[in-house]
Amino acid sequence: MMQNLLTLKDWTPEQILAVLDKAKALKADYGPYQDALKGKSVATLFEKPSLRTRVSFDVGINKLGGHAVYLDQQNGALGKRESVKDFAQNLSRWCDAIVARVFDHATLLELAEHASVPVVNSLCDLYHPCQAMADMLTIMEHNSDWQQSKLAYVGDGNNVTHSLMIIAAKLGVDMVVVCPPGHFPDGQQVLEAQALAAQSGASLTLSSDVAALEGVDVIYADTWISMGDTTPLEEIKAKFAPYQVNAQMMASSGASHFLHCQPAHREVEVTSEVMDSEQSLVMDQAENRMHAQNAILLTLI
Ligand code: CP
Ligand code: NVA
Repeated sequence: MMQNLLTLKDWTPEQILAVLDKAKALKADYGPYQDALKGKSVATLFEKPSLRTRVSFDVGINKLGGHAVYLDQQNGALGKRESVKDFAQNLSRWCDAIVARVFDHATLLELAEHASVPVVNSLCDLYHPCQAMADMLTIMEHNSDWQQSKLAYVGDGNNVTHSLMIIAAKLGVDMVVVCPPGHFPDGQQVLEAQALAAQSGASLTLSSDVAALEGVDVIYADTWISMGDTTPLEEIKAKFAPYQVNAQMMASSGASHFLHCQPAHREVEVTSEVMDSEQSLVMDQAENRMHAQNAILLTLI
């Protein structure tokens, strides 16, 4: 029985697929679920900025008849005014789940250790599992043969990359990660995802050469500089330039779809031409955050 959603690594493929099936059912019709969280409250706390996560949880919980309590960057800063342990124990007395966006994954582990209600990771330095769930839902919707499709992540190896590698490996989807030298995903995360891929029969390869994108079905991009990273764009722009997703990259790879978790930096990691193209599924992804997260909450609460 899953208690939390922290990394997705401890969820079985069957559990992930069940949540995605629930998300599809919700998206088709909220009618049967409009009181599913009646009388329940979910704390959503943020140590970092957010548009999609904040709004999709708030609106989504409302659609299920529940109540979201938003704690902003000042009031959601864990361990500052009081300890993470006290924060977890207090919130557990009022709320039925805690959704947290934090700087450090260790904070989530501490929160989960001391909370008596489910804890959901809504982004940390290492993972973004809610995003990965919505991404997989989006891929499934647009590709009936999704298990045979090949996913590519291009750019900076980061939290979003880690969670995508994990979900792709769990569900048996082949993936290639293409990054500039020195910007690959964390080595330990790669090894763990490759071990998961070996179990499902999927491949997970890494390259610095954009030629490795040839034959992929989906190209996924994220910011080159994640929240909390103070590297000036000018310092890395030239190194990352060959990894910009543009019409030429889409055409030469043969990819049919483009994904981006957003916020996107137009004309930086992706051109507006691609972002606004027919191939772009970015707004479906954003919408699917809500359905996937609702399915996660219904499963955990
Ligand atoms: N994709 C995503 O998590 O967006 P926000 O940072 O706006 O929540
Ligand atoms: N990798 C990005 C994702 C934003 C949703 C970041 O952590 O800032």
